[in-house]
Amino acid sequence: MVDFDGEKYHVLIVDDNPTNIDILVSTLRDLYRLGVAKNGIKAIDYAQKNQPDLILLDIMMPEMDGYEVCRKLKSMDDTKSIGIIFITAMHKSENITRGFEYGAVDYIIKPFNTMEVLARVKTHLSLIGYRDHLEEMVRKRTIQLEMANDELLDLQREIIYKLGRAAEYKDYETGMHVLRVSSYCGIVAEALSLDPNFINLIRLCSPMHDLGKIGIPDRVLLKKGPLNDEEWVIMKSHCKIGSDILSPVFAGKNILSGEQSAAVDEMKKISDYRLIEISRIIAENHHEKWNGKGYPAGRKGEDIPIEARIVAIADVYDALSSKRSYKEAFDEDKCQQIITSSSGEHFDPAVVDAFTGSIKRIIDVKEELKDW
Ligand SMILES: [Fe+2]
Repeated sequence: MVDFDGEKYHVLIVDDNPTNIDILVSTLRDLYRLGVAKNGIKAIDYAQKNQPDLILLDIMMPEMDGYEVCRKLKSMDDTKSIGIIFITAMHKSENITRGFEYGAVDYIIKPFNTMEVLARVKTHLSLIGYRDHLEEMVRKRTIQLEMANDELLDLQREIIYKLGRAAEYKDYETGMHVLRVSSYCGIVAEALSLDPNFINLIRLCSPMHDLGKIGIPDRVLLKKGPLNDEEWVIMKSHCKIGSDILSPVFAGKNILSGEQSAAVDEMKKISDYRLIEISRIIAENHHEKWNGKGYPAGRKGEDIPIEARIVAIADVYDALSSKRSYKEAFDEDKCQQIITSSSGEHFDPAVVDAFTGSIKRIIDVKEELKDW
């Protein structure tokens, strides 16, 4: 009898009685690869080294009885899945029950009928073969699924960065602004001791904060000099535009095939599906102010999501400390003075504390990711 790979199954016979061994060997040798051990210690050693598919295990043996052999084999990772059939003269029901409790798959009482032994061995090896086959299939499918998920997440991250980069392309051409803001956000989120997964999400999503600028006309976005009232209204709409772009496309709309819907449901199970939602929250709320005087909704205090409160300080600090078409870069002291004086007004005081407490790391990033 062969397994799914066409190999003969491997059976270990464990018995201290040579006559019993001879009978079992002559019964099974034409169908299976056989191993023989005459005591429990040798049986365990053989099982660890050779990984048989099934063990026919006597109970009454000197030094270590079959129950103990079974217990040890079931306690070790490399032997615990080997099927064990007790084959013994101990015929009382408590002996049989104990055998199953120790993890045996079957129990044969001596003197045995060789045809019965053959039939039971064959049945259990078939079951073991199917189990191993299914486990292998699950393992392969799991690897395929993990690879597909990894590719999907990499793709999401890439899209998010590219979109953020596209949004900044016209006004900050080097693209370093989004990288700096992302790093500043990560540093501040760490200083606030947020959940590590959430910190990672903030770092990944923050480059999308100005995505809505894609929808702002060049006459406003690239205007040299101050904006008039009408132009400010247009400029402020970038928060709403960004949020609209990042809102769920499929929610409540019956535009997907069953297969596509299933794929979306699978995506939602992946924690990083939150990438898009966190990005949307940041895009919508990064100009809100702690004192309620921001836009677009005039949210106040902790009604503003923490990820947006963090991006707000990172975005403003980067604007202050960078050269723009309408201003020179402010020196570090002036930047920090503006940030700290805005604590409790523009910015969440706790976020300001986290920022100022991490200023050395922030300055290192500013130097490392300079515009070229
Ligand atoms: Fe913005």
